[in-house]
Amino acid sequence: MTIVANYSSAESRATGTLTVLGLETSCDETAASVVRLSPDGEATVLSSVVHSQIDDHAAYGGVVPEIAARSHVEMIDGVTRRAMVEAGVGYDELDGVAATAGPGLVGGVMVGLSFGKAVALARDLPLMAVNHLEGHAVSARLGARVAYPFLLLLVSGGHCQLLEVRGIGDMTRLGTTMDDAAGEAFDKIAKALDLGYPGGPALERLAKQGNGARFDLPRALLGRKDCDFSFSGLKTAASRLAQTCETAQDRADLADAVQTAIARQLSERSDRAMKAYAERHKGRLFVVAGGVAANGTVRATLEATAANNGFAFLAPPMAYCTDNAAMIALAGAERLQKGLISDLDAAARPRWPLDEKSALDDPTHKAGRKGAKA
Ligand code: KG4
Ligand code: ZN
Repeated sequence: MTIVANYSSAESRATGTLTVLGLETSCDETAASVVRLSPDGEATVLSSVVHSQIDDHAAYGGVVPEIAARSHVEMIDGVTRRAMVEAGVGYDELDGVAATAGPGLVGGVMVGLSFGKAVALARDLPLMAVNHLEGHAVSARLGARVAYPFLLLLVSGGHCQLLEVRGIGDMTRLGTTMDDAAGEAFDKIAKALDLGYPGGPALERLAKQGNGARFDLPRALLGRKDCDFSFSGLKTAASRLAQTCETAQDRADLADAVQTAIARQLSERSDRAMKAYAERHKGRLFVVAGGVAANGTVRATLEATAANNGFAFLAPPMAYCTDNAAMIALAGAERLQKGLISDLDAAARPRWPLDEKSALDDPTHKAGRKGAKA
């Protein structure tokens, strides 16, 4: 990483405001966005274009990495052009380019990162290789004026983590999943219930007609003092029960039980994190980001937990909760503001823990298939 302090555009030289193009291609969304960051930390989204590949993957019941990478190659040009046009800025008005460099499906990450490098090289702009999780971590700052520090629960299809967010490049992981992410559990159980992909929203709709009280699903990690998560036992138990469901009511009842169990675990682990966080910080803000934050039961349960602990509760607008490039552009702009620039040979990383120290210290999350991504 190189530390620089000279910004390129006339606007930034005059006002200190930074305008950054962000690119996101780590999973099944091709996204580009232009974000402006004022010297006092206020973010303005000038454009945010997201092309979802859901239709390309639906037939397979999940994201197919090869199809995703090819689709990113086809879409990245047009999506970026649209983001620039909608923002109404030219390339000479940009101060930098930010691209997700991991963690994620590496074929896709390479597409966005290479594209970002090409723009940086062609326009002589600084490149910021951004950790996708860092993007989610700052996403609350896109919808409202949110000051650091805050406690974040990031809960999506690929991630389930509790993070103490003190600023860009300054975050501590308090807990992570030891197996599946919560969204992954929603999706896989939904698949066992024949609800299609992505299953989370469909499972939530079905659960509205059910009453899960009659199902006794496993409660993982009860009584453990850390803030980690585990959803694989629940996933296996619920998938088995799905095979025994005979009526539509059985299925709705199971969906309700699953949703309640996931919400309960998220809330129990967040409760621990809030208590630990409150010992270190005076401010009390709890932010929930990621696609699973769309779930009404999850949200309501977490909101109640936050209130019990004296925390204010914030979930960014859905457009910034799920994968998008505005969060990558903002993380990039905050990095640029601090002079944290990446080299043009920055590598695409399938696994990249946001808090490398916690990932190395914690023996349950060794580098490897599970640990580094989680
Ligand atoms: O953040 P996101 O768009 O993508 C990443 O995984 O990064 O999150 C997608 C995940 C999927 O697992 C999806 O099933 C889940 O969020 N999700 C939901 C709901 N809406 C999206 N899960 C439960 N209830 C929902 N309403
Ligand atoms: Zn994500």
